Amino acid sequence: MHRRLGQAEAYSFEADFTKQGLARTSDCGASGVCAVKKILHDTAMDPIPERAGVGLKPEHYEEIVEKGPDIGWFEIHAENYMEAGGPPHHFLGLIRNRYPLSVHGVGLSIGGAAPISRLHLTLLKAVCDRYEPSLVSEHLAWSTHEGVFVNDLLPLPYNKHTLKYVCQHIDDVQTFLGRTILIENPSTYVRFQSTDMSEIEFLTAIAQHTGCGLLLDVNNVYVSATNHGFDPRGYIDAFPMERVGEIHLGGHAHDSDDSSAPLLIDSHGSEVSDPVWELFSRAIQSDGAKPTLIEWDNDVPPWRILHAEAQRADRLLATRGAPK
Ligand SMILES: [Fe+2]
Repeated sequence: MHRRLGQAEAYSFEADFTKQGLARTSDCGASGVCAVKKILHDTAMDPIPERAGVGLKPEHYEEIVEKGPDIGWFEIHAENYMEAGGPPHHFLGLIRNRYPLSVHGVGLSIGGAAPISRLHLTLLKAVCDRYEPSLVSEHLAWSTHEGVFVNDLLPLPYNKHTLKYVCQHIDDVQTFLGRTILIENPSTYVRFQSTDMSEIEFLTAIAQHTGCGLLLDVNNVYVSATNHGFDPRGYIDAFPMERVGEIHLGGHAHDSDDSSAPLLIDSHGSEVSDPVWELFSRAIQSDGAKPTLIEWDNDVPPWRILHAEAQRADRLLATRGAPK
């Protein structure tokens, strides 16, 4: 697959929707499902295949460019490519010419109370315009407040008040970018007394109200389930898989809380655990294969190990979760 980058195109929100064959949520009745189906299956000139991809890391740039490994796609963190030039853009340009790309944001603070930063959104749009990713995603979390930036994805209460401003933020982002995005379920370590909706009810509501798709991070489900003591299989079974445009798989670290109870940390620094592979198999049995990312952001391993994790995911995707 070869694509030209940096094509200058006058931007038009309506034209972009028409070009991508998208319907607005309002065209599809209250559920918005038809819009989401369109979004997930019809968006780009080179859609992300229903295969495994991996997070693109500088440690692997040269090996990927040199060997052109058989891998479905790559995902980048948008914030790592918000500078104008340098080696990251050199290598990403070469890799983008050969592979589909997903852009994953970690700094929009969609779950925060403050309006979305116009500067951050402008920088994100520049990355999207330059590399034309097939998918763009962000987290149901917040990381800024009153000018303070934290290097973390913090949880929020799930209720009508937070639902309203999260939907407004997603509307703002989608309008500015001229495309729909996917919103990822977070890993959490605390709960709020003001929460009166389940996480799945909240995610389903924002998808219905904004037309966005969802990103199901299976490791996040397992981490949260362990930390809060709920059944991760029940969560997976209840998740609206028809709205899922991408799945994440990653590793977690083991710790314990003040009462010595097990505490899992969403560390992205190791291979995917067996319980998470089992949940992944369960997730893809209901609605079929989805683009699936191996997230390994810390203690990045040699390419062959990361690639082997992706190949394991590919084998499960090929059989809809049944081991070969
Ligand atoms: Fe994730």
